[in-house]
Amino acid sequence: MSSNSITNESDTFEIGGSTVRRLGFGAMRITGEDIIGAPEDEESAREVVRQAVDCGVDLIDTADSYGPAVSERLIGEAIGDPDDVLIATKAGLLRNSEGEWLAHGDPDYIRNQVLTSLDRLRTDTIDLYQFHRPDDDTPFEDSVATFAELKDEGLVDAVGVSNVSAELLDRAREQVEIETVQNRYNLNDRGSREVLEICDEAGIGFIPWAPIDGDDLAEHGDLLDGIAETHDATRRQVALAWLLERSAVMLPIPGTSDPAHLESNLAASQLSLGDDEVRRLTAAAD
Ligand SMILES: NC(=O)c1ccc[n+]([C@@H]2O[C@H](COP(=O)([O-])OP(=O)(O)OC[C@H]3O[C@@H](n4cnc5c(N)ncnc54)[C@H](OP(=O)(O)O)[C@@H]3O)[C@@H](O)[C@H]2O)c1
Repeated sequence: MSSNSITNESDTFEIGGSTVRRLGFGAMRITGEDIIGAPEDEESAREVVRQAVDCGVDLIDTADSYGPAVSERLIGEAIGDPDDVLIATKAGLLRNSEGEWLAHGDPDYIRNQVLTSLDRLRTDTIDLYQFHRPDDDTPFEDSVATFAELKDEGLVDAVGVSNVSAELLDRAREQVEIETVQNRYNLNDRGSREVLEICDEAGIGFIPWAPIDGDDLAEHGDLLDGIAETHDATRRQVALAWLLERSAVMLPIPGTSDPAHLESNLAASQLSLGDDEVRRLTAAAD
């Protein structure tokens, strides 16, 4: 029985035949500094993952490159492979000791990575496997074809893409059913507005990464604070509630390693913004 006081009350969306609540959890931040290596306290990191699930999160986002390998391993250790939690992971980025993120969409590499992700996540099937970022050195179609093959082979339930343009999304959809797109999107950064519109029309899940802009919401701070005060909420909660209102396909995954921040973010699912508030935030954002 959960001792948490907050319950995720966001409504639901279907991915790969599973129904998930639209407000998820981003597990990039449970690793060491700069997303390299293990966190200082691994048990606390595992506890945050368990807490998220206890609070009703059933969509957890991770990637092989977070750590690398650390975020997936900690999730596997914390919760194993529960039927009622969809774990979305990604492949297609390498890390180095300088912390750089290097696109690598080579089919053999992706085929190797899926095996390591299955092992760390303690599962036989990846619930949602996302191509992390297009790689200029590998034809996009070759990378996407590999994800399609992994789905055909039963190693992957659903396929997603990340950091794609509208044109690349169209090309990916010609090869395989794309169930989600994960692009940067928040009140301050609407570069993916066109991709969001395509997802909206096609019923494809849109996972906005950095939904609270890495905790930098100052650009629209006054507007957010004014609305937050009316609801006795925080500017981060208003920013998340706005995302949930913005589209029925929006699946925000705020990232944290802090139990209090996790609860505070999930409380955004209980915040009901008025039509006028949504309009003002959307006008500021679009
Ligand atoms: N596809 C991609 O290329 C890509 C790229 C980046 C991220 N992602 C995914 O998107 C997820 C979210 O992105 P993100 O983590 O970069 O950005 P974010 O969720 O917008 O912000 C996370 C930052 O805000 C802080 N924070 C979170 N909740 C807070 C709260 N209630 N109060 C105060 N500070 C708070 C976190 O620090 P604390 O830990 O101290 O709370 C962290 O520094 C990641 O976890 C990852 O799964 C995907």
